[in-house]
Amino acid sequence: MTNTLLILPGDGIGPEVMAEVSRIIDWFGDKRGLKFDVSEDLVGGAAYDVHGVPLADATMARAQEVDAVLLGAVGGPKYDNLDFSVKPERGLLRLRKEMDLFANLRPAQCFDALADFSSLKRDVVAGLDIMIVRELTSGIYFGEPRGIFEENGERVGINTQRYTESEIDRVARSAFELARKRGNKVCSMEKANVMESGILWREVVQRVHDADYPDVELSHMYADAGGMQLCRWPKQFDVIVTDNLFGDLLSDVAAMLTGSLGMLPSASLGAPMANGRPKALYEPVHGSAPDIAGQGKANPIACILSFAMALRYSFDQGEEATRLEQAVEKVLADGVRTADLMQSEGTTPASTAQMGDAILAALDASL
Ligand code: NAD
Ligand code: IPM
Ligand code: MN
Repeated sequence: MTNTLLILPGDGIGPEVMAEVSRIIDWFGDKRGLKFDVSEDLVGGAAYDVHGVPLADATMARAQEVDAVLLGAVGGPKYDNLDFSVKPERGLLRLRKEMDLFANLRPAQCFDALADFSSLKRDVVAGLDIMIVRELTSGIYFGEPRGIFEENGERVGINTQRYTESEIDRVARSAFELARKRGNKVCSMEKANVMESGILWREVVQRVHDADYPDVELSHMYADAGGMQLCRWPKQFDVIVTDNLFGDLLSDVAAMLTGSLGMLPSASLGAPMANGRPKALYEPVHGSAPDIAGQGKANPIACILSFAMALRYSFDQGEEATRLEQAVEKVLADGVRTADLMQSEGTTPASTAQMGDAILAALDASL
């Protein structure tokens, strides 16, 4: 089977971190015989600049064909005042929606070398390994009606939280399946105390559990309390399953448990394609970081670990994924740090490319 990859570097630090991933892809081709058929295209502001839209139809079509899409980041101040329909973020949302990538896996793992770097105490985060499963194709991000309307002489902004039973059912199954391969625990988060969609969410998750996953330990938590518990004692969690908006917020919170937003990868998975592989897009959780873009300062680890997730979930290369994750762990243990991973100004941080160099050297050493 060939391995097809579509790379969409995007905006801001996207192309900078993706350059390091490209070197790592080449390494796996040269040193491990894992050949990828790679194509590259535009997304976000970069696509808008050329096509007048944040995702061209041809790019969308290509994304539907390949085994996996790797995306850097989209957005930036240059595009902040564009019409909502052509904002860079719409390109990413279109990919998620049209590829029907309903399960967004956002792991938060604290590497031992960074345990003192988290804003929380070492005890609270050392050894942390949780997985947030965020519903990605529905909820308030996509519900109708939406828009800005005139009403009684003033404007009203409307978004609608909406979930069908089948949308909740399928993402709950993804969470339970993952839990079985990990700590066998799922905590579902919503606000069933104030939202009808939360009541339905809780009911359906419980029903899926009772019918097909009674062996997995299931608990429910209000999402606000969940945010608090993530900061208080995150190690109580194994898999968290939640909706699109709460998942967006909670995964940024979880990012800081690991030390930096620059560390967090993600996989967005849909239904299996004809070749048995899931529709898939891999991207860091962070954005285009306009404040540091173009300076060679960005931490490429989130994007590199996103490629590791691609190796595991799209290409059935779990051992090679682990090899890459261990190379990252070794480099951190050796003290290599980009600026976001440094507490004091004393020493010179590694550049994006130097972090890439160090990870490649650790990969070589793993052979
Ligand atoms: P951001 O994630 O881009 O940046 C937040 C902070 O984290 C910044 O201080 C940034 O410098 C830092 N940071 C992020 N990634 C880093 C990395 N790899 N290495 C070092 N530091 C890093 O979020 P924001 O500032 O809220 O958003 C900026 C733009 O990115 C907006 O246009 C937003 O819509 C977009 N965005 C895109 C995505 C995506 O493409 N998936 C995700 C989030 C935000
Ligand atoms: C993320 C981002 C996106 C989201 C934006 C850029 C559309 O914040 O991937 O977490 O809100 O989902
Ligand atoms: Mn986000």
